[in-house]
Amino acid sequence: MADKFDLVVIGTGPGGYVCAIRAAQLGMNVAVVEKRGVHGGTCLNVGCIPSKALLHASELFEEAGHEFGAMGIKVSPPELDLPAMLAYKQEGIDGNVKGVEFLLKKNKVTTFFGTGSIPGAGRVTITGDSGDLQSIETSNIVIATGSDVAQLPGIEIDEKRIVSSTGALELQSVPEHLVVVGAGVIGLELGSVWRRLGSEVTVVEFLDHITPGLDAEVSKNFQRILKKQGMKFKLSTKVTGIDSSGPRLSVSTEPSKGGETTMLDADVVLVSIGRAPYTKGLGLEVAGVELDGHGRVITDDHFKSNVDGIYAIGDVIAGPMLAHKAEDEGVAVAEILAGQSGHVNYGVIPGVIYTRPEVATVGKTEEELKAEGVAYNTGKFPFTANGRAKVNRSTDGFVKILADAATDRILGVHMIGPNVGEMIAEAVVAMEFGGSAEDLARSCHAHPTLTEAVKEAALAVAKRTIHM
Ligand code: FAD
Ligand code: NAI
Repeated sequence: MADKFDLVVIGTGPGGYVCAIRAAQLGMNVAVVEKRGVHGGTCLNVGCIPSKALLHASELFEEAGHEFGAMGIKVSPPELDLPAMLAYKQEGIDGNVKGVEFLLKKNKVTTFFGTGSIPGAGRVTITGDSGDLQSIETSNIVIATGSDVAQLPGIEIDEKRIVSSTGALELQSVPEHLVVVGAGVIGLELGSVWRRLGSEVTVVEFLDHITPGLDAEVSKNFQRILKKQGMKFKLSTKVTGIDSSGPRLSVSTEPSKGGETTMLDADVVLVSIGRAPYTKGLGLEVAGVELDGHGRVITDDHFKSNVDGIYAIGDVIAGPMLAHKAEDEGVAVAEILAGQSGHVNYGVIPGVIYTRPEVATVGKTEEELKAEGVAYNTGKFPFTANGRAKVNRSTDGFVKILADAATDRILGVHMIGPNVGEMIAEAVVAMEFGGSAEDLARSCHAHPTLTEAVKEAALAVAKRTIHM
């Protein structure tokens, strides 16, 4: 094992492990430090992968119970075997984690399990579980330590009855009433899981709308559809306390602006009010690395902190907290360190909410374009007019394309509907190439596919849809 590395990456989530692999591909001698004991970070262990496993299984459970009959498939009502479903989820995690382990080995990346800290540029100290210390030398350090659950002041998460997303992925029985605090991505995805499995779900949201930052028309439609599915919403409301002394939780809420207290009984409360950058234990004060007001490592255009030789990527720096954003930054910083021109196009990072229907979005929202005074044309096409969606009985939602009024360049694409999480890739590629709505409209789309809704929305920008 070399005692001096070209690069040490701290944290092996999607940002860190991808960075390490790309750097190794480019000829660097790379080590990673991970304190979790397994690779993959939040995403593989307690985030993207386990949540998608439960979303997939619970979606099929709901379909089998409520939708098979309409297609001529007779089944007796499906029974939930929750331990088996959780084991299926774990199998998905283990498979993916092993995959990362294999890739790191294949690329000859050295792994140190333990907590990494930075006494200064050029050196990383690793503290093992038993307190043993190891010190390694390196030309460069990439901090990829990710994020952790944001806490609600005065409310203690015990991961049993008052849970974060981590506990919500591990509940050992279906709560009768699940109260979700925060109508963001985690709350709506995991709220959907437990609603499908039998919980009554009430979502308490501070703002007067769900999914802040989403195109408002999509957000409104999304809430309407979730409501139709049985999810309850208490908007413009804040949780002020939870009494856990009784057999059921007693949740105090009041209007966001203040006012009368209303109580909600709950079996489980999911706190999903965001995530906070994680730098604990890194000793950044000692290394002199500067953080912003949100606790994120401040970086320049090349992901470099204020200290030479120390870089940062992923959830621990500014920008959307998304696995693919972290991955792309990992590739970019590795390429920059190798003397190439690594780059991330932040204007074209897709976001997907994996509910049913899914929500997928890239680029500017209508609200953003209005605020920036940009003149744009809108093309919209509903899934009710798409042949494939009709036969699949999945007609909720639409595709909306926003294109520059003068040049027709695509500025934003916002979709709600079946499989739109996959379909958004077409919009991302078009935007990455500076494509116009006309480009999408003239590209041949296979029939019958849901993607024809994208083509039709692009045609709608020029007011010439065929199927509506
Ligand atoms: P992380 O994945 O958080 O990895 C950081 C790693 O660093 C961790 O393994 C941690 O143990 C390690 N570490 C921290 N400090 C140290 C230290 N001092 N020494 C050594 N190791 C350390 N994003 C999506 O794009 N799509 C999704 O579907 C999605 N679903 C999600 C669902 C849930 C429930 C959650 C919580 C998140 C989800 N996310 C999703 C967000 C996604 O998980 C994060 O954006 C992504 O994991 C960030 O990657 P990262 O590499 O920056 O950090
Ligand atoms: P979020 O930022 O998406 O949503 C948090 C919600 O909580 C917001 O609507 C906010 O207004 C609300 N809120 C904040 N404080 C509140 C309070 N005191 N009371 C009531 N409501 C309050 O955060 P979330 O859902 O916790 O997710 C964290 C991160 O994980 C997100 O940044 C997201 O990018 C990532 N993630 C991504 C997924 C995906 O890509 N599909 C899935 C899950 C998580």
